[in-house]
Amino acid sequence: MSNYVLKGHICHTPDLNGPEIRENAYVVCENGICRGVFDEIPERFRGIEVTDCTNQLIIPGMMDLHTHASQFAFRGTGMDCELLDWLNRYAFPEESRFSDPAYAEKAYGLFAQTMRQGATTRVVLFGTVHTDASLLLMDCMEKSGLVSYVGKVNMDRNAPPELQEESAFRSAEETRRFIRESAARGYRKTKPIITPRFVISCTDELLKELGKIRKEHGLPVQSHLSENQEEIKTTAALTPEADFYGDAYDRAGLFGRDGKTVMAHCVYSGAEETERIRENGVWIAHCPASNMNIASGIAPIRRYLEQGLRVGLGTDMAGGNSESMFQAVVDAIQVSKMYWRYIDRDAAPLKFHEAFYMATKGGGAFFGKTGSFEEGYAFDALVLDDTCLPCAREMPVAERLEKAFYTRMDQQGIRMKFVDGERIL
Ligand code: GUN
Ligand code: FE
Repeated sequence: MSNYVLKGHICHTPDLNGPEIRENAYVVCENGICRGVFDEIPERFRGIEVTDCTNQLIIPGMMDLHTHASQFAFRGTGMDCELLDWLNRYAFPEESRFSDPAYAEKAYGLFAQTMRQGATTRVVLFGTVHTDASLLLMDCMEKSGLVSYVGKVNMDRNAPPELQEESAFRSAEETRRFIRESAARGYRKTKPIITPRFVISCTDELLKELGKIRKEHGLPVQSHLSENQEEIKTTAALTPEADFYGDAYDRAGLFGRDGKTVMAHCVYSGAEETERIRENGVWIAHCPASNMNIASGIAPIRRYLEQGLRVGLGTDMAGGNSESMFQAVVDAIQVSKMYWRYIDRDAAPLKFHEAFYMATKGGGAFFGKTGSFEEGYAFDALVLDDTCLPCAREMPVAERLEKAFYTRMDQQGIRMKFVDGERIL
């Protein structure tokens, strides 16, 4: 792998306190690892090729902690109902198509191509219940150059007949096959993740089996949690023994502790649930676009940050309407303002740099050390050219950075994209 230095306006968030902006500085990548940001190239890196991106913005890649590759086709449509109806009317019929390998290949190919061209460098994905189609998704993601976790979805109850797996046993067996076959393909960047859809569609028996598989293989887990009020009521009725929604996952060994877990949404997590999330080190994938589109609500992200919870952002297509993490950053800030305005005057709106942090280093932690230009971090970076934006005056770099997100410069502005040090655009 080549070593190189990029020169430009380097913007990242080593912590939640504020962005670090270094104008006309140098960021060094050695064997895929960031060696830090410097005003002058240190002696030990002299001789490494310098790519001149003067006056362009150099930022970490975007880390999407939650989206459904299988719902990409109908993004931006069908937002006329809430979660449970929405699943039945739109999501499940679309996902049923993935029993056809030709459809899966076409749909996942288009998804992966879109992800390659966008600002995201790492992503956590839902496929469908179909093992072979989910393996096809892994093939497509590996080719895209992004780093991804891909889940074959498990559902053994409350699903339409064409999607419901025959039994907890068969569903778990298919997950075992998914893990085996993905290992045999020798991917470099693509890994499996245990993916119970949510408690409503998984029996206790299935959750427990998945907990065992997680432990045997040391795999991460993803699912949905406390997204919608009807969903929460239905879940409580199905799991009378659980103390709260997240406890149903925890009882099955699917809620952090000695393995990584990411839970999408957490719009309505109460005190007990958030305390367990904190104790167990579970990541929250905040998906504001989805929460607006299917009218789920607003997650109290300011509160979660105050409690020291791990929070990243997710696009959650097709509840979310776009693959853009730039949009997710803006949405997160905007919904936090509505939360402050209408729900809790003590929950200060998110600042730009806080949402930028969640989209990069915050969510990046799920993948390891990435999402920041600190020494020792995996080098995921975007070079953005915002100079095509009409503007009557020169602006400070901090303002250019914020504006680049609000004006969606991920659509025309990405000049270079690096994942794990490898240039893919
Ligand atoms: N909960 C269970 N499945 C889904 C899904 O596909 N999308 C969203 N937004 N929530 C879910
Ligand atoms: Fe989702």
